Amino acid sequence: MTGSNQRNSLTVTDNRTGNTYELPIEHGTIRSTDLRQIKVDDGDFGLLGYDPGYLNTASCKSSITYIDGDKGILRYRGYPIEQLAEKSSFLETAYLLIKGELPDKERLAVWTYNIRYHSLTHANLTKFMDGFRYDAHPMGILVGTIGALSTFYPDAKDIDHEESRKLQVRRLIGKIPTLAAMSFRHSYGLPYVLPENDLSFAGNFLSMMFKMMERHYQPNPVIEKALDVLFILHADHEQNCSTNAVRSVGSSRVDPYSAIAAGCAALYGPLHGGANEAVIHMLEKIGSIDKIPEFIKSVKSGEGRLMGFGHRVYKNYDPRAKIIKKIAFDVFEETGKNPLLDMAIELERIALEDDYFVRRKLYPNVDFYSGLIYQAIGFPTEMFPVLFAIGRTPGWLAQWIEHVKDAEQKIARPRQIYLGEEARNFVPIEERPKKIADEVKLGICRL
Ligand code: CMC
Repeated sequence: MTGSNQRNSLTVTDNRTGNTYELPIEHGTIRSTDLRQIKVDDGDFGLLGYDPGYLNTASCKSSITYIDGDKGILRYRGYPIEQLAEKSSFLETAYLLIKGELPDKERLAVWTYNIRYHSLTHANLTKFMDGFRYDAHPMGILVGTIGALSTFYPDAKDIDHEESRKLQVRRLIGKIPTLAAMSFRHSYGLPYVLPENDLSFAGNFLSMMFKMMERHYQPNPVIEKALDVLFILHADHEQNCSTNAVRSVGSSRVDPYSAIAAGCAALYGPLHGGANEAVIHMLEKIGSIDKIPEFIKSVKSGEGRLMGFGHRVYKNYDPRAKIIKKIAFDVFEETGKNPLLDMAIELERIALEDDYFVRRKLYPNVDFYSGLIYQAIGFPTEMFPVLFAIGRTPGWLAQWIEHVKDAEQKIARPRQIYLGEEARNFVPIEERPKKIADEVKLGICRL
C-alpha cells in the first residue's frame, strides 16, 4: 500500500477464531511479543514465532555494523569495509567500532598506548597455559585462558560502570594476541615471547609468534600490513553465531571475559571461524586440480560441503573475500605462492559456474582465501581460528557494550515448542522393563 492510506501496521486474522489484530510495524519489524495477544481462549498462552537458527528474527537494535547480503555491502559505523581496509589500521578500526567515531590523532595515540600497555599477561597465566597438553588445540587454549582472565580481574563484574568497561576493553584487545601467541608457542614447546611495544599491533603479534634467537624481531612490512588488514576484515560482522553467543551469555550480566570466552568457543566451530582451517584440509584432501570435478560432484550429492562457500547473509560475493583475494597475491610475492592457490582458484571458477551453487547463491566467503594467506605466512592451520578471534575481539566488545547499555534488552531466554510426553506417573525401578538392565549385566550396552 502507498500514499496517505499507508499505515505502519500489520493486520492479522486468526482463522481459528476469526479475530483480527493490528500489530505495529517499526523499522520493518513486528514485535514477536505482540503475537502473544493472539489466543484461541483465555487459557491459551498465545501465539509464538518458531525460528530455529534465528533465520528471520532480529534479536537487537544495533548501530555498529551494516550488511546488505544481496548487494555484498559491509560497513562498520557507516564506513565501507573497502575504505577501512585501504586507509585505516586495525587499532583505529577497533576504536571506531567501540566508540562509534574515527579518532583524531591524539585520541588514536592514547588508545594505541592504552592497548599496548595491557598486552602483558599476569605471570600466573603462564602456569595455567603450561597445564594444557602439548598437543592441545590453540583455540581450546584461547577459550580456556580468556575465561581464566575473569578470575584475575574480579573488578570486571562491575559491568554498569563505564570506566570499568573501558578498562576491560583495553585489557581484552591488548591481551588476546599475547594469549594467542602463547597458545601456539606452548604447543610447539617454544619459550613464550614478551610483547614488544615499539612494534605495531600486527608486528608485535608476529614477533610473539615467530621470534627465535634474534635480539629484535623485524616483521616483514608486507606481511605485517596484510595481517593488519585481515584483522580489520574480521573485526565485526553484526549478529553472527559468536557475537550472538557474546550477547546471549552477556545478557546474564556476567563479566566480559566470560562472555568473550563464550564467543570464542562459538567461533571455534567449522561452520563459523573454524571454516578457514577446514578449507585447507579440504584442498589438501582434494589433492590436485584434476580431482576437483569429482569433489564438486560429491558435494552436490550431499557428501559434505564446499568449505569457505556460502553465507547466511551474503547471497553475493562476500566483500571481504574480494579484498582477501587481492591481499593473497601481495603476500605470495613475498612468501612464494601457496601451492594450494591454483586449486582454490579452479575450485572457485567451477563452483561459480555450476548450477547447484548458482541457484543457491553460494559464493566464496571470508574464509575461502584467508587460510591460504595464513599458511603462506607460516601459521599452522590450528592457528587460523585464533587469528579470526584476535580480529573479532573489538566487534564482540562493541556489541557487548551496546547490549549492556540497551535498556530494552533482557536475559536471553527463548521459548520452545514442547513435543515430549504428557504428564505420567513415576515407575519404581523394579517395575520397569528389564531389557536394558540385562544388557548392562552382559556388558554389551554402553549407556
Ligand atoms: N557447500 C555446499 N552446499 C551448501 C553450502 C556449501 N558450503 N552452504 C550451503 N549449502 C547448501 C545447503 O546444503 C542448502 O541446500 P538445500 O537447500 O538443497 O538443502 C542450501 O545451500 C542452504 O544452506 P543452509 O545450510 O540452509 O544455509 P545457512 O545459511 O544455514 O548456512 C553456512 C550458512 C555458512 C553455515 C553454510 O553456507 C556453510 O556451511 N558453509 C560452509 C562453511 C563455511 O564456509 N563457513 C564460514 C562462514 S563465513 C565466516 C563466518 O562468518 O563464520
